[in-house]
Amino acid sequence: MSVVQPSQLSELPLPPAVPLLEGYRLLRRSPPEALLHIARQYGDVVRWRGVQTIYCLNNPEYVRQVLTQSWPRYSKDTIDYRVVGRTLGKGLVTNDGPDWAKQRRLMQPVFANRAIDKFDAVINDMTTQLAESWAGKRSGETVWLDRDMSRVTFQVVSRTLFGADIDDAADEMTEILDIVNQHPLRITSLLTLYPWLPLPSNQRFARIKARLDAIVDGLVDQRRAQGEQGRGDIVDRLLAARDADTGEGMSREQMRDELITLLLAGHETSATALVWTYHLLGQHPDIEARLVEELQRELGGRAAQSADLPRLPYLKQVVQESMRLYPPVWGIARRAHEDAEFGGYRVPAGAYISLSMYALHRHPDYWPDADKFDPERFDPKRNEQRHSYCYIPFSAGPRACIGASMAMLEIQLVLAQLLQRFRVTPVPGFKVVPQAVVTFKTRAGMPVTISPR
Ligand code: HEM
Repeated sequence: MSVVQPSQLSELPLPPAVPLLEGYRLLRRSPPEALLHIARQYGDVVRWRGVQTIYCLNNPEYVRQVLTQSWPRYSKDTIDYRVVGRTLGKGLVTNDGPDWAKQRRLMQPVFANRAIDKFDAVINDMTTQLAESWAGKRSGETVWLDRDMSRVTFQVVSRTLFGADIDDAADEMTEILDIVNQHPLRITSLLTLYPWLPLPSNQRFARIKARLDAIVDGLVDQRRAQGEQGRGDIVDRLLAARDADTGEGMSREQMRDELITLLLAGHETSATALVWTYHLLGQHPDIEARLVEELQRELGGRAAQSADLPRLPYLKQVVQESMRLYPPVWGIARRAHEDAEFGGYRVPAGAYISLSMYALHRHPDYWPDADKFDPERFDPKRNEQRHSYCYIPFSAGPRACIGASMAMLEIQLVLAQLLQRFRVTPVPGFKVVPQAVVTFKTRAGMPVTISPR
């Protein structure tokens, strides 16, 4: 990127703009598809005028600048995070500034590689429960893969957070989280930014959120009352975490916000990755056969442990390539707090910036034959030649996903067990249509049939 003196910035042109009508038509189709189309049509820096003007950046160097090099000057002060914040409070995803930095320091050790290896057993046990239910299916019976993947990832994240304490509340919690997950999609979610408005949708949201808070507070209070238990789940570790400077632990409210954030951030994302991986394997039987061969050769039918993963390189490549084509988090937003230059264009202070993983992961300059599913791209030898910011399913820089290693472990262990035992076949004629909510889901789910391998 060229170096531009601050005095020269005001002389730079604004980026090319998408015509208003075209923008409206594109948005109605799908936001990630719209961002991909705009990038391919207009380039790496584009102005998209609508209710608000959005600056779309689609070049790994620009992404590096926003997420890493100048990150404190690109905040999460946008309407999206304010809406999501109605559910997540001041948990890590929505928090910002020094408060966020303090919390991240406290929570980082809980998600370090050393710590998450202990989750093998939980992941494998929850996957075995699902496998048992699949084993009982009649031949040809339809199974909704999206629901089963959501269930297993919810069980994994809730068990790693709360241990067995969650079991009594699990059904109610799943119901609440389903509603809350849909919340940002609804137009009424904007109204929750004005909680004093006496609207039925606001009252309903307040009721659900209060119930969610009460369940989580109840679980944490119960644990506090029991004192040191050494159970090793995440609640235990967060209760023990102390700030290195002040020696303080987390307040009750902060703990609640963090746990709700982890439940939501760590659940649908991993489920989405699993669903799309199965979808892609269903369309590429040769790749599936090679993957199953690797798993059976190295594991001989047993479940994998994290220690096995280095011997399963193709499994990782398949998951990486699946998250390239269908990144579970398809885009993120930031607010610029200074004038900046990207590719010779001026992006003014105050601009709403959109970074789309979906568009970036299909950028033709970095991904030849970008729409093709080809796990060979992630052959470690070829990885080295790639710009490190053209593949960011977990974002990058200081605000990157804290659960990335846990998610990769979980996705690989679930697949390793299920793929060895079952053939999952898409229901013929069912059209899978992507739908962008907060995560990149399928519009009408994903029906499949299951048969023993
Ligand atoms: C395939 C699965 C996952 C994907 C693709 C994913 C992706 C992401 C992305 C893109 C961000 C950045 C969001 C932003 O800038 O607004 C993020 C942040 C975050 N993720 Fe994940 N995530 C996954 C799984 C998980 C899991 C399993 C957990 C924890 C149990 C988790 C917890 C978080 C948290 C707490 C943040 C906020 C981090 C911060 O700002 O300090 N995620 N994730």
